[in-house]
Amino acid sequence: MSFVAWSDDYKVGIAAIDNDHKTLFGLVNRLHDRIKAGDGEDAVGDALDGLVDYIETHFAREERYMEECGYPGLVAHIRKHRDLARTVHSLKTLFEDDPREIENDAILRFLRNWLTNHILNNDMDYVPYITGKKKGRFMAE
Ligand SMILES: [Fe+2]
Repeated sequence: MSFVAWSDDYKVGIAAIDNDHKTLFGLVNRLHDRIKAGDGEDAVGDALDGLVDYIETHFAREERYMEECGYPGLVAHIRKHRDLARTVHSLKTLFEDDPREIENDAILRFLRNWLTNHILNNDMDYVPYITGKKKGRFMAE
């Protein structure tokens, strides 16, 4: 059983975004597995870097989608993305500074909760706009 298990509940129904989310689940699991296996700092740091980088890639893509359809919650959603990006970047800095100072379990739990709650509560909200079921702000008929 993976640390954070994918299920159809997390599907937004937009292939590129679902693929990104699956990749993020995989990267959190990789980080978890390396920590739990007692892999060295390099391996854990590498998994953390991979996750932080992909978070940026994914947020940029998602923000593009939300912008293109005139999603009215865009600004608030971007703020949530920036908050997480800031948190994971400071995490990375802390880890690079002294990996022993990091509380691994708390971080893993935080990442799992953030990712799953964000998809279910925030990402689901833009779906009807991206799929055209609801009309976005400033969009012509
Ligand atoms: Fe999002």
